[in-house]
Amino acid sequence: MVHINQNYLKLKAGYLFPEIGRRVSAFAQAHPEAKIIRMGIGDVTEPLTPAIIAAMHEAVDEMAQRQSFKGYGPEQGYGFLREAVAAHDFQARGVDISADEIFISDGSKCDTGNILDIFGSNNRIAISDPVYPVYVDTNVMAGHTGPADASGRYEGLVYLVGNESNGFVPELPTVPVDLIYLCYPNNPTGTVASRETLARWVQYARDNQALILFDAAYEAFISDPAIPHSIFEIEGAKDVAIEFRSFSKNIGFTGIRCALTVVPRQLMGRGAGGEKVSIHQLWNRRQSTKFNGASYVVQKGAAAAYSPQGRQEMRGLIDFYMNNARLMREELTRAGIRVFGGVNAPYVWLKTPNSLSSWDFFDLLLNKANVVGTPGSGFGAAGEGYFRLSAFNSLANVQEALQRIHSVL
Ligand code: MLT
Repeated sequence: MVHINQNYLKLKAGYLFPEIGRRVSAFAQAHPEAKIIRMGIGDVTEPLTPAIIAAMHEAVDEMAQRQSFKGYGPEQGYGFLREAVAAHDFQARGVDISADEIFISDGSKCDTGNILDIFGSNNRIAISDPVYPVYVDTNVMAGHTGPADASGRYEGLVYLVGNESNGFVPELPTVPVDLIYLCYPNNPTGTVASRETLARWVQYARDNQALILFDAAYEAFISDPAIPHSIFEIEGAKDVAIEFRSFSKNIGFTGIRCALTVVPRQLMGRGAGGEKVSIHQLWNRRQSTKFNGASYVVQKGAAAAYSPQGRQEMRGLIDFYMNNARLMREELTRAGIRVFGGVNAPYVWLKTPNSLSSWDFFDLLLNKANVVGTPGSGFGAAGEGYFRLSAFNSLANVQEALQRIHSVL
């Protein structure tokens, strides 16, 4: 019989969101009359906008004609999209990132996991707690950890705790680490990192020859002009960071799939003999071998988000979801709940009432209010006693969910 990757057996139960889905399906089967409102997984609800739909239709029409049909595209992404990203997302903010440092993909969840292909198994890895579970689980799968303890923490990882006293922005590690995962605006807590905080991390990485994996999937939701959108806004970051971005949440592409990873040309790692090796070249090699590029039609749609009309429509979508987040913050606060996030991020992070555990509060909301959220403990031991609500929903659903939640508190 075939031998399996033993590391998978170290993983705790199911991946968080399928596990929530399983519990919700069981509840729905037992209570077919319940009108369940889902504010758990951060999945968009609003349809694609006209500029994107038109660009994708046009791309399909091109595919329908022999002279404009396209087969395999470049594994790194089409030039038209890489150039638009470089110009609008980086150069327009004074950040010197060029198109050839941008790798288009079919998702930043995949990219944050796949990136581990190019790193050794002897790095010391720092991860925030609470955290987007993909960073932890992919390291477990890759064999970078020992087993989990009773609280779900894996041996070998350095956990950086975010809590109310540090505003859910963890401090620098007290032991040297090689690889650091940062996510700002943060999933799940909805908090942001100031320029000073990011500058401290960049300095730490430079001093310790560490690499930062910076997940900026929610940067478009930042409203405070003082908050950086990219780690590369910090001087010196191009020597020590990789950045992940996504089209999932800003233009509604969770089902369409398109994202990007920025790997600066000057970024170096170390080979077994101590020699410098280009991370950009390794990632390019990895992508060219294991990935055939995102679809042309999808990339045409993503590029349309940078047209004047596309930008206006994207702004409309973001404002729509952030208005939901504002209502959630206001109403939950009125209900006596302590809330965090939801100002520069589409997630509201809240302290469970009456010291309920995260899963007990999940059950209370599901059973009594028929509202689904995400238990904070699913994001790590430090998330116990907290709960995440996603602002991705229709206004009517958000209003109704808030009324129902208020009535069961
Ligand atoms: C979340 O709810 O945390 C996100 O939707 C997960 C993801 O983007 O993969």
